Amino acid sequence: MSEPVRRRVAVSGALGNMGRTVCAAVAAAGDLELAALVDPAFAGGVTSDFELPAYPSLLDALQVGGLDVVVDFTRPEAALGNILACVTAGVAVVMGTTGLQPTDLDEVRRAAEERGVAVFVAPNFALGAVLMMLLAEQAARHLDACEIVELHHDRKLDAPSGTAARTGAIIEAAWESKGLRRQVPIHSVRLPGLVAHQEVIFGALGQALTIRHDSMSRESFMPGVLLAIRSIDRLQGLTVGLENIL
Ligand SMILES: NC(=O)c1ccc[n+]([C@@H]2O[C@H](COP(=O)([O-])OP(=O)(O)OC[C@H]3O[C@@H](n4cnc5c(N)ncnc54)[C@H](O)[C@@H]3O)[C@@H](O)[C@H]2O)c1
Repeated sequence: MSEPVRRRVAVSGALGNMGRTVCAAVAAAGDLELAALVDPAFAGGVTSDFELPAYPSLLDALQVGGLDVVVDFTRPEAALGNILACVTAGVAVVMGTTGLQPTDLDEVRRAAEERGVAVFVAPNFALGAVLMMLLAEQAARHLDACEIVELHHDRKLDAPSGTAARTGAIIEAAWESKGLRRQVPIHSVRLPGLVAHQEVIFGALGQALTIRHDSMSRESFMPGVLLAIRSIDRLQGLTVGLENIL
C-alpha cells in the first residue's frame, strides 16, 4: 500500500520564538513534512537546527515551489504582504502573526476568493483562549459592562493584542444584537516574564465576573497550529478564528 502524501509545510519567521516552536511541532508530526524555512535573519548568517532549504525571503521560497502550506509567525508589518504573496503563488496560508486590521482582512478575503486559495487567520491558537472568547460572548448577553486587560511579554510589538481586539469585537457584536452600542475598553500590559494572558472582566451591580486565560508557554499554541494545517484543505477563501475548525 502506498504511504499517504504528507503536506509540505514552510515556516515563515522560522528563527523567531513562535517559528522555532512551530518548526519543532511540524517536524515531529508524522503526517506533515517541514519542507522550507524562511526568515530575513538567514541573510545575516543565523542558522537553524534543521538541515533544510532556508530562505531570507518568502518570495524566494515560493518561487522554488513545491509547498502546500505556509505557516507565518513574523511581524505585524509583514503579515499582509506575506499572505498576498502566498495567495498569488497559489499556496495556502496559516497566519498566526497578529496586527492585521479589518481593512487588511477585507483585502485578503477578496484575493483569496479570487485565486481560490485557503487562508486561515487566528489571533490566538490556544484552545483555552478560544473558549474564553465563547464564554465572554455568552456573558455579554446578560451583562452590559466589560473591560479587557491583556498582558504579554515586553517584546510583543502590537497593542492591543489580536486576541483582545477580537474578544472585544465579539462582546460588542453580542451587545449590538440586543440594541446596545458600546465599546469595550482594552488595557495592555507589557512586562518581562509574561507570555500571553488575558482577563475579561464584566461588572454589574454588586458583582463582577472575570474570565481569565493564561498561556504559560508557546507549546500551548501548537495543537491549534497543527489543527489549522491539517484542516486547510477543506477550507475555502478566508477563515478567521480557531473556533471555526474545532
Ligand atoms: N496567533 C497566536 O496564537 C500567536 C501566539 C503567539 C504569538 N503570536 C504572534 O506571532 C508573531 C511572532 O511572534 P514571536 O514572539 O515569534 O516574534 P519574534 O520576534 O520572536 O519572531 C519573529 C521572526 O520573524 C522574522 N521576520 C520578520 N519579518 C519577516 C518577514 N517579512 N518574513 C519572514 N520572517 C520575518 C524575524 O526575523 C523573527 O525571527 C507576533 O505577531 C505575535 O503577536 C501569535
